[in-house]
Amino acid sequence: TPTPDYDLSKPIDPNSVGLRQKLASYGDPHFSLFMRKLFIKALGYSEDALSRPIVGIVNTYSSFNPCHANIAQLIDAVKRGVQLSGGLAIDFPTISLHESFASPTSMYLRNLMSMDTEEMIQAQPVDSVVLIGGCDKTVPAQLMGAISANKPIIHLVTGPMMQGSFQGVRIGACTDCRNNWAKFRAGTLDIEDISSLNEELAPTSGTCGVMGTASTMACILVALGLMPISLPSATAPAVSSARLRIAESTGTIAVSLIKNKLTPQSLLTKESFLNAITVLQAIGGSTNAIIHLMAIINRHPILAGTITLKTIDEIGRKTPLILDLKPSGQNYMTDFHNAGGMLALLHTLKPLLHISALTITGKTLGQELEATPFRPFPFTSNIIHSLSSPLYPSSSLVILSEGNIAPGGAVIKASASKYRHLLKHTGKAVIFNSSADLAQRIDSPTLDVDANSVLILRNIGLVGNPGMPEAGLIPIPRKLAEQGIEDMLRISDGRMSGTAGGTIVLHVSPEGADPGSVLGLLRDGDLVGVDVEKRWLGVLGVGEEEIKRRREERREVEEGNWVRRGGERGYRGLYMREVNSAEEGGDFGFLSAGGPRG
Ligand code: FES
Ligand code: MG
Repeated sequence: TPTPDYDLSKPIDPNSVGLRQKLASYGDPHFSLFMRKLFIKALGYSEDALSRPIVGIVNTYSSFNPCHANIAQLIDAVKRGVQLSGGLAIDFPTISLHESFASPTSMYLRNLMSMDTEEMIQAQPVDSVVLIGGCDKTVPAQLMGAISANKPIIHLVTGPMMQGSFQGVRIGACTDCRNNWAKFRAGTLDIEDISSLNEELAPTSGTCGVMGTASTMACILVALGLMPISLPSATAPAVSSARLRIAESTGTIAVSLIKNKLTPQSLLTKESFLNAITVLQAIGGSTNAIIHLMAIINRHPILAGTITLKTIDEIGRKTPLILDLKPSGQNYMTDFHNAGGMLALLHTLKPLLHISALTITGKTLGQELEATPFRPFPFTSNIIHSLSSPLYPSSSLVILSEGNIAPGGAVIKASASKYRHLLKHTGKAVIFNSSADLAQRIDSPTLDVDANSVLILRNIGLVGNPGMPEAGLIPIPRKLAEQGIEDMLRISDGRMSGTAGGTIVLHVSPEGADPGSVLGLLRDGDLVGVDVEKRWLGVLGVGEEEIKRRREERREVEEGNWVRRGGERGYRGLYMREVNSAEEGGDFGFLSAGGPRG
């Protein structure tokens, strides 16, 4: 039977759903549709299939990405949901970023992935999109791109991995990767032990099983309303059948989004993000999530610039840490899942949440919570504490912007500090100028350092070491580690893995590579300190005059370096020229909607 699509007297509505939208321009729209159909028919589709609304499924599978190893199964299940609901599901690839296989750092490639995601959502005839991802940078990159593209979207995370076992003790990536490596460095674990640990730390596919960046972003997606609240969307393990049922439901919701035209720009409001930040504080989430949230918010044309690091600090002051997960606590994502997951957490946090915020089902957060009550299990309170008996009273994540070192802000996860007295501490600076410098000298027996020293690593910021590597977890110098020292005050302009802990100040802005920074002017022996209560990070005894003098000296040595920023070719040159500051999210200025350079 001839299809009316080729009736030249009937114009093709470019706003119609499915294959008829966004026709590539061959001049003649009927011919464009004719071409599109003849090519896709090579895949075996019928006219009936091609008449349906299309749900695109973003496929971030890669054999270099074990966190996404279950993606083929998830796509299958999403397709089932879409097709049971009358849509046509079509998956397509975007790039895939795993933390350990993205040199110099996955953060360097996050903006590239967001551009890939945005442009592929824009370019292809998809009516709504399921974004499947999980590993740290994936969810932020996908959401940044999706807000800019502004077609209806829903997220599906790959889910956390299970735990392994070492000599009968549960272990999991990657808090236990780090603390066991520290023990190995200190000589309390031998090479056989560390080798068997290596076999067990990531025993299944899925994302790191503690409250690292991947888990944090998954919880934030639920708080934002972008994954269903009534299902264990954030916590169901990667290898569980629950994860597949969530995928099927995600496909169903993706079809419904087409009818109610719920786009991320219309769904996400200031209240959604305030809820996300409340959840971030309550779960003791990753410091990286702060940068990602800033980048995400600044993609939104109405919200850009309305929520800042200050907002994160203010919400922190009224939000207790109630989730007992590593690295701030003791447990794993599967424990959180078994205790009731995000549904239980949101019910507990309800007095602190804006319940009028919209969610992906079209219902508000309040309506969702009312429709899905949660009766705590006897052991729930071991994992999810009540607001009145929290793990940490408030301000798990603190923004330091008083004092002369970080006027643009710096971040510390106070709840993950091992020696709490270091949260108010001043000591002599021991400065490392780069990761290479650190690697060369940190274990030297002649390094002038003691337990009260303040270790400073600079030039690992967004521009200084493009992509801002997770090198902020400066190791304890071996000679101190061998004496049993497990924590010191450490400061950098870099990031740290969300799975790590210690008294560690990160994201110092302006970064050391910036000629206007104070961080770049600090010297060995300067008295540097932090006072978390006062939000203060500064250097004592180095006044304005001295700073000016040092800056002038530096200018003479480095003249021109900063100006040459971005003089290189390719993506690296683009990155260096365009990346904005840590407090803006480290996005490219030309991608953000309302940042100062947007
Ligand atoms: Fe992918 Fe940790 S490495 S989530
Ligand atoms: Mg990580």
